[in-house]
Amino acid sequence: MASQLKIDFKSFGKADAATAVILVSDDLEPSNAAVGMLGQGLSELVRKAAKAENFSGKYLATIVIPAPMGLETERLVVVGLGPDKDADKRDWARLGGTCAAAIKTGTAVIVADEAISMDDVAAMALGARLNAYKFDRYKSKKKDKSETLSKVVFAVADTDAAKKAYKQAEPVADGVILARDLVNEPANVLFPEEFAKRVGALSKLGVAVEVLDEKDLDKLGMRSLLAVGQGSPRQSHVVVMRWDGGKEKDAPVAFIGKGVCFDTGGISIKPAQGMEDMKGDMGGAACVTGLMMALAGRNAPVNAVGVIGLVENMPDGKAQRPGDIVTAMSGATIEVINTDAEGRLVLADIMWYAQERFKPRFMVDLATLTGAIMVALGSAYSGMFSNDDTLAQQLTTVGEATGEKVWRMPLASEYDKMIESKFADILNSAGRMGGSCTAAAFLKHFVKDGTPWVHLDIAGTAMGSPKTELSQGWASGWGVRLLDKLVRDHYEG
Ligand code: BES
Ligand code: MN
Ligand code: ZN
Repeated sequence: MASQLKIDFKSFGKADAATAVILVSDDLEPSNAAVGMLGQGLSELVRKAAKAENFSGKYLATIVIPAPMGLETERLVVVGLGPDKDADKRDWARLGGTCAAAIKTGTAVIVADEAISMDDVAAMALGARLNAYKFDRYKSKKKDKSETLSKVVFAVADTDAAKKAYKQAEPVADGVILARDLVNEPANVLFPEEFAKRVGALSKLGVAVEVLDEKDLDKLGMRSLLAVGQGSPRQSHVVVMRWDGGKEKDAPVAFIGKGVCFDTGGISIKPAQGMEDMKGDMGGAACVTGLMMALAGRNAPVNAVGVIGLVENMPDGKAQRPGDIVTAMSGATIEVINTDAEGRLVLADIMWYAQERFKPRFMVDLATLTGAIMVALGSAYSGMFSNDDTLAQQLTTVGEATGEKVWRMPLASEYDKMIESKFADILNSAGRMGGSCTAAAFLKHFVKDGTPWVHLDIAGTAMGSPKTELSQGWASGWGVRLLDKLVRDHYEG
């Protein structure tokens, strides 16, 4: 689908690629390994080039030296690590992405000297792959091979250890890339049934995949979810993914994703401007799918379930109307005063279903839920709402570590009051004020007592995201790395 960057590992030896990459801290001194591979003249070359380019080895800064004198490679890239006193703040995935961006085309060897741990090398490889990702499926003229980055080889002290570490990181990169592909696909291609079909491919990795169709959902009483899809000729689906890598008796961790394959707003239709972005309104479901791929791919010792609700929100003669009252699977009645507040209607039923069926250890839902969270946090943080301080703190910490950051927002009785309905148990919308908080208050109705729960509003982070070291922009695959690390650090074994 998307062009894939090849990664390999070798011992120090010859720098046999078009581009060589070395990393230096602010002393600008190349490592022994780099000098060994590229020759005695390297130190002087770097010092001169640094002076000419005003390069001080700053963290994530780069210089590119074409036709480097005395070297066999066509180009030498020097990447800054910053001062060694800040060594523990280095994000090796971002450094890997920085290398890939500077290499740009062809093949490269990156000298990962002895000071870099094999886990850090694996993180660099992941970062390089994420930087190189682009979605060019619908470009009839593909870029020439010579115009793309095709292969990166890491020269390391211990190739076996590096390969072993990359075995853990590679599936995470695969998961992020799958999530990006799903978000990037247009809605005429990726409608609920097609999405479900693509999830089916995870069964190759040992994930048990069940697809529920509208008949099944009706039997389960998921009227809230079905109401959203009733204006579309495309059938709604719920997909359940199970990865049983843990002990048989252990309750699973559960991840729930909003999968609105296109959100027109329904009868409460959205303005035309920017509506094309609503092909990405399944970013939560894409993240859950990518995460399940990562967990299975690296054989994670954990029991995990992913449940995604796939629908299309369209205006139509059969569509739901403002004022309609629906009964959710939980038995709660919902007055739908705005058909554009549809994501919470989908989540209400799949959250309930996941708890009833799996009695999970905790439940994290992800949804491109509100424009209001973008106003509050932009694209730097996802909004986090939680009934559990431990889980919230764990996510805050892994968020800082992965760069997929979360900012805790309030759950409070004031917001509960705002969604009281005159005619039903709750309203599905309370208008613009505190829009993300009232959305979370709505979801809280569908969390059972005793279920530790986190809601992540990823409207600002999953799509329309900026270019970074790890992404060319728009679909980010946000959350796959975050939740993989949450599981890895706290819920395995
Ligand atoms: N999918 C949208 C939220 C969204 C907006 C995501 C922009 C990404 C970018 C969601 O279904 C929605 O329409 N929310 C409404 C809720 C309102 C009607 C209470 C919103 O945020 O305006
Ligand atoms: Mn909407
Ligand atoms: Zn939506």
